[in-house]
Amino acid sequence: MAKSPVRIAVTGAAGQIAYALVFRIASGALLGPDQPVILHLLDLPQMQGALGGVMMELEDCAFPLLAGMVATDDPKVAFKDIDIGFLVGARPRGKGMERKDLLGANAEIFTVQGRALNEVAKRSARVLVVGNPANTNAYIAMKSAPDLSPDCFSAMIRLDHNRAASMLAAKAGVNVGDVGKLIVWGNHSPTMYPDYRFAEAGGRKLAEAINDEAWNRDVFIPTVGKRGAAVIEARGASSAASAANAAIDQVRDWVVGSDGRWVSMAIPSDGSYGIPEGIMFGVPVTTQGGVVTRVPNLAIDAFAQSRLDITLNELKEEREAIAHLLA
Ligand code: NAD
Ligand code: LMR
Repeated sequence: MAKSPVRIAVTGAAGQIAYALVFRIASGALLGPDQPVILHLLDLPQMQGALGGVMMELEDCAFPLLAGMVATDDPKVAFKDIDIGFLVGARPRGKGMERKDLLGANAEIFTVQGRALNEVAKRSARVLVVGNPANTNAYIAMKSAPDLSPDCFSAMIRLDHNRAASMLAAKAGVNVGDVGKLIVWGNHSPTMYPDYRFAEAGGRKLAEAINDEAWNRDVFIPTVGKRGAAVIEARGASSAASAANAAIDQVRDWVVGSDGRWVSMAIPSDGSYGIPEGIMFGVPVTTQGGVVTRVPNLAIDAFAQSRLDITLNELKEEREAIAHLLA
């Protein structure tokens, strides 16, 4: 028997990440080749014309799995009964800005959208925040939706995880698909801590294969942390296709399952690893059937602790900066 359609909201649906995202969702890349989807597409009133063009192209792809589309500028229409939400719509940074410089411009979007999710989304909804600064925006949305479980929310750190995996694979001379047990801790910002102390490929420990602590500290960690800025510098616009790909990866693993693999997700802390409860922090997890389980009890040495402290302090500062919005 045919499955009933899953309702998926994408905000910022006329923007560049959405343009790389919605076609893949409709093709089955997110939920598989037998799962119909209905797309709920949200963008600002002045973008409805362009959004209409995106919908024309979606129609012109004749995707058998695309069971319907809703276009709107009203979050309560966009989030009505959704199973999955990709919260992409927000201003991107330009050259010379840090992601947290966007807090002023973007934070308010996520109070409004959090409240709308609280009112109309399915109680089991899974909501990924992509718009920057993603961790704190996800925190705002979660706090603005008190009737939804905090487990409904996560922020995207998968792009950083994928960037780190590619860089490690190149350094160690292994296939990127074989890299496992890699972690990106903390904030989606240059303070993030990509950590390959436990990483393996084909049964080999990558830290032993690479055996270069100076490379770790002086090249790997800063390059992964500043990769978004490097893409902006080179492309003149922030990453889009790789961001959409990471959003698919993170949500697919979340709702379908990671099959025992460790993946990095920014989720509300339960207090483990000394991260205060509620802070949206990148951690290693495994996922099954929509349930996320942290990888527990990993050793945190002095260097790792210093990196966790840096990224945590930044998230605390961001939380302070938006506290007035949640009062
Ligand atoms: P874009 O400017 O191309 O598109 C953003 C879209 O959002 C626009 O169509 C805009 O009209 C819409 N929008 C703005 N406010 C909205 C609102 N209140 N409701 C609905 N739609 C709204 O930008 P983009 O390149 O698609 O990037 C979107 C966001 O994703 C940016 O904040 C960017 O920094 C962020 N981003 C995050 C990651 C990550 O890893 N977390 C990666 C890449 C980009
Ligand atoms: C990225 O990491 O590519 C995005 O967050 C865009 C940015 O501003 O860096």
